[in-house]
Formats: sequence, C-alpha cells, structure tokens
Amino acid sequence: MTHELTASRLASASSNATASGGWWRDAVIYQVYVRSFADSDGDGFGDLRGVRERLPHLARLGVDAVWLTPFYVSPQADGGYDVADYRAVDPLFGDLSDADALVDSAHALGLRVIVDVVPNHTSEQHPWFREALAGVPGARDLYHFRPGRGPGGAEPPNDWKSVFGGPAWSRTPDGEWYLHLFAPEQPDLNWEHPEVAEEFASVLRFWLDLGIDGFRVDVAHGMVKAPGLPDIGHGAQATLIGTEPLPFFDQDGVHEILRSWRRLLDSYEGPRIGVAEAWAPTSERLALYVRPDELHQAFNFRFLNCPWDPAAMRKVIDESLAATSSVGAPTTWVLSNHDVVRHVTRYGGGERGLARARAAALLMLALPGSAYVYQGEELGLPEVLDLPDSVRQDPAFARGEGQDGLRDGCRVPIPWSGGEAPYDFGDGGSWLPQPADWGGLSVAAQTGDPHSTLELYRAALELRRALPGLGAPDAGPPTWLSAPKDVLLFTRPGFACTLNTRPAVLELPSPGRPVLSSSPVETDGRTVRLPPDSCTWWAL
Ligand code: GLC
Repeated sequence: MTHELTASRLASASSNATASGGWWRDAVIYQVYVRSFADSDGDGFGDLRGVRERLPHLARLGVDAVWLTPFYVSPQADGGYDVADYRAVDPLFGDLSDADALVDSAHALGLRVIVDVVPNHTSEQHPWFREALAGVPGARDLYHFRPGRGPGGAEPPNDWKSVFGGPAWSRTPDGEWYLHLFAPEQPDLNWEHPEVAEEFASVLRFWLDLGIDGFRVDVAHGMVKAPGLPDIGHGAQATLIGTEPLPFFDQDGVHEILRSWRRLLDSYEGPRIGVAEAWAPTSERLALYVRPDELHQAFNFRFLNCPWDPAAMRKVIDESLAATSSVGAPTTWVLSNHDVVRHVTRYGGGERGLARARAAALLMLALPGSAYVYQGEELGLPEVLDLPDSVRQDPAFARGEGQDGLRDGCRVPIPWSGGEAPYDFGDGGSWLPQPADWGGLSVAAQTGDPHSTLELYRAALELRRALPGLGAPDAGPPTWLSAPKDVLLFTRPGFACTLNTRPAVLELPSPGRPVLSSSPVETDGRTVRLPPDSCTWWAL
C-alpha cells in the first residue's frame, strides 16, 4: 500500500516556495471536514470515497494540499476526535482501501494530503481505556487516574474544568477519577508513560507508510501536564484558545515529544510535515512549536480572532511574522475551521459580512506564508444559526455550553448543486439539515459567475501561483505605506494590496494596476475609489 510520490508530479503542481526549501512554506491547504464534504453512499454522512470523487473541485480551486479531519474508528462522541483505533478507518467513512485510493488520487492531481492525529486523548472505547476501567494491572498508568478529594473522595482531584464545560474529571464506578480536558468520552493520555510515546510513533509510521504528506497535530499544546496536576486556584473555565498560562497547556515538555516526531517525519522521503494545533499565551511561545527541529507550522489563531479593525489586523500580522521569522518558519493564516463560527457571520453576516469575508480572504492570500481554507468558505457560506437542539451533536451542547461555544453551525454539509437540500452532498439527506436557500451558494451555481465568491477564490489562487511576490515567505514581510484612516496599504515585491475596512467608498491615489478585487473598484489610473469593506490586489 505504500505510495511512491513522484517528485515531478507534485513539484509541477506545487507553488513557488518549493524552490526555496519546502512545499509547505507558502502552501494553501484546504480543510476537509470529512463527514460534511461529500457523501458517496447515501447515509447522510460524508465519507472518503465522497472526498475522492470531489477532488477535482479542489484541484480546480487551486489549493496545494488537503487536510482531512479524523476518519478513524470512533464512537463519534466528538466528531471523530475520540479515536478508538488509530490505524483503521471508521465504517462510517469507508475502509483502509478508500484511504489508500484517496491518497493516490490526490497525488495524481498534484494535491498533498495531511491527516489529523489526536494524541492528547483517546476514546473511552480505545482498548487501553477499556482495560483501565476493567482494572487490568498497570493500564490506568496510561491515563491520569487519581483518587478524589474530600470525604469519601467525592470531589474531583483538582479544580480543572473541561474545555467543553463542567469538571475535567469523571468518576469511575470504583471511585477513582480520570482526567478529560474535553468530553468524558475523551480520557487524557499520560505522556510520561513510555508506551504512549512508542504507540504514537508507530501510528505516525503507519500513515506515513501509506503515503500521507503530513499530520495536523490535535491539541499539540496539551499532551504534557504540570507535575502534580496543581489547582489553577480560581476555578476558571479552561479555554482552548486563551492568553492565560494553564497547568495543562503549553508545558515545556511537549516540545520534546514534537521534536521526536520531527525526527520521525524527516526520516521519510518528503518533506512530510507536522502542523500544530497549538495555543500559547504569546506569539513568542507559539513560535517555539515551529523551531527548525520541531514542527513545520502552527495555526495562527490570533489572525482568526482579530476584529475587523485595521490597527488590530496590522498588529497581528506584524507580530505573527516577527515571531515566526525569528525561528525561520513561515507564518500561517486561517480565518475559519470546524471549531469556530464561520467568518462571514463573525464579520456581521448578510451582505456586509460576506463583503468583509471576501476582503479578508484576499488579505490572507496576499500575506507571506501558508494559508488554510475551510471547506465552504470558498462558497461564502455563513454559519447556520437556527439548527434545532435535537440535531446538535457538538458534545459542548450536552455539557451545557452557551450558543456561542457551539460548533455544529459551521459543520453543516456543503452544497454542490441543485436547488434543494441536500444539494448533491449525497442522495440520502445530510446529518445536519442544510438551509433552504443554499442552492444559489452551491459550487455549480457559482461556477462561471465572475461575481461569485468561488470564482474570487479561484482567481486569487491562480494569481498567487503566478505572482512570485505573493505568499512566498522568503520575499520578505509587507512594507506598510501610509494610507487614510481605516485603510491598510502594503507592498510586496511587484505587488500592492489595499484593504478598506470602512463601510463607505474611499478615494486615494492609485497604487498601481488593479488585478483582483473583492468588490469592483473604479480607477481612472490616477485615483481609485475603493469600495466599502473591500480588498484589492495591485500590480506595480
Ligand atoms: C481540537 C479539534 C476539536 C476537538 C478538540 C478535542 O481542538 O479541532 O474539534 O473537539 O481538539 O480533540
């Protein structure tokens, strides 16, 4: 089942950073949330065969790689981030031969494939945890089991809260407690135990041997906990992305694990990459994850969290670039993923939210480094806000999280064609209901419409390949030029970018020849009227 990656196949499809030492350095990586992408067997859930059949969409879009969210055997307590068998495909998504065929087809189209690895926790159905519960001697050492506090040990061992709400501890029938930073169905592994490290090295090899090009490391900052599992003190709710140092996130010990993974990745013909889903209190601490002997990339969630404010955006851009360039790594940019409200909606929703989302996409794709595109953002999909409680599957819902923290609305299956649900997602419905008005947002409806968001992404990605100044981290950071209040104006070699964050037209001297804009610009060659909430690319 091992795939030989023919270097020339991918080199020709890869973008301009390849020459300067690594395909990932300016790669545009498309996130496929497998259960919501394309359903080949009519059960209402997307699957690997569905992804494979739809790969031509991604090749035509012009991305360099695909990141597949977990498709491993799982009870699906957290959308597959609760893995019961790391080396097998869940029947919901197909089987190993489908994974193999998908990797093969992607490579034939010049697309690299990144898969998720979930090392912070297993499923409660993983054989190790079942043994732990069954009292097999030594099995509990692979997790964090502790006696409780207070009379009869009835209180959790410390004050940590789960990211999904409620205590981070659950009690077993025999009275001991186990740690789960996420849902109770996701017990945290004890990475101090050598067997855990050995097992994951073997799992990584399994998928690398199958031919994948890298891993997205889930909760990469969480594997190691502070010795003694100390109380936080004020009982605050843990958040995945926060600025507070926490005794279970961003501990120094994670770096040793990630370094050993880098050595493993480097032992394969490649380069094969690792990208950290990591959150650290500062950009400097985040940069530690992408030191030359560590992972290749880390998600830059500060960009995603940045408000629609030019000063804040510029600060995030500058600080992100400074932090990663200090260790020689490329920065990453991301606006949406399967855990956050889609950015059309975050930016206000409706026409204005869409205008801003289109502008933000052009801004992101003009910056040096690698960009992540979440499935459906190329269609301008909004968050689905009116899902009935009865269909919600996010475990945070059951744990009492407020509406704001829920993640089903960004996971609604995407529309491919037709005027009625399921819009050719499959022919058997969809696991979450799709809005009745998504027909006009489908891939088919937007194809060929020059004003559509899909064609904007296609044009942007084509230009990104054609203009070496775009994306390439080695071409240097943006040079900021003075601009009216509410406008960002920067140049990169041969290229300029303007962002008008004002909800009004703004006139300024033309920076060059417009080559692409998120909304139509008017220019007489000397002055330009920038549309409200818009981003424009200029050739110099
Ligand atoms: C990551 C995933 C998220 C999951 C969590 C626990 O943050 O992106 O979807 O719930 O890890 O594995």
